Amino acid sequence: MAVSDALLKWYDVHAREMPWRVGPADRAAGVLPDPYRVWLSEVMLQQTTVAAVRDYFHRFTARWPTVLDLAAAPDADVMGEWAGLGYYARARNLLKCARVVAYEHDGRFPDSYEGLLELPGIGPYTAAAVAAIAFDRAETVLDGNVERVMARLHDVHVPLPEAKPMLKDHAERHTPLTRPGDHAQAVMDLGATICTPRSPACGICPVIEHCAARRAGTAAELPKKSPK
Ligand code: ADE
Repeated sequence: MAVSDALLKWYDVHAREMPWRVGPADRAAGVLPDPYRVWLSEVMLQQTTVAAVRDYFHRFTARWPTVLDLAAAPDADVMGEWAGLGYYARARNLLKCARVVAYEHDGRFPDSYEGLLELPGIGPYTAAAVAAIAFDRAETVLDGNVERVMARLHDVHVPLPEAKPMLKDHAERHTPLTRPGDHAQAVMDLGATICTPRSPACGICPVIEHCAARRAGTAAELPKKSPK
């Protein structure tokens, strides 16, 4: 079984519940998540844990249910709700992006990686995440979790950050044309719950048979980092 098939089979049973997520069963029935909620969650999740983001996400979406509502909000209200999440440039970019989507794109997020990348505050990570998760585009999402999973699957000993292009290549080759949104979230969930930085739970890993680091006995020491 290919890596992606094994991952998706695992995700069908073990997907984490998140307030912005549409689970695998609903996605299979053709339901896609609201791009606004996916975008908002991905911006909040940069440098912040899922656990910390939940409450903020609920408060934001209760107060501003759509991108049009957020775009119309006074700056000070948004900065106030953001307080505690840190990295305030993210909140300013969030508002800038909401206004461009609201007023230049009729309130609809572009449905491609390239279109999303043109929006303020949206870099390669967020563009790929929203394109894959909200629009089921076959884009490859590369965050720290995905880098760690790829370094182990392919026993990559080149240190970060030099290894990034190599890890991206690997991640791209695993990205399937069917269910790319579920796949992106499956790799992130695997990295967050099983293929963890220390003491990975290899005994319950759905892709253990594919893992070169497991065979070499190097999983726990990967990825390597360049000395600062
Ligand atoms: N971390 C950032 N975005 C995520 C997502 N969509 N699923 C799981 N973990 C994440």
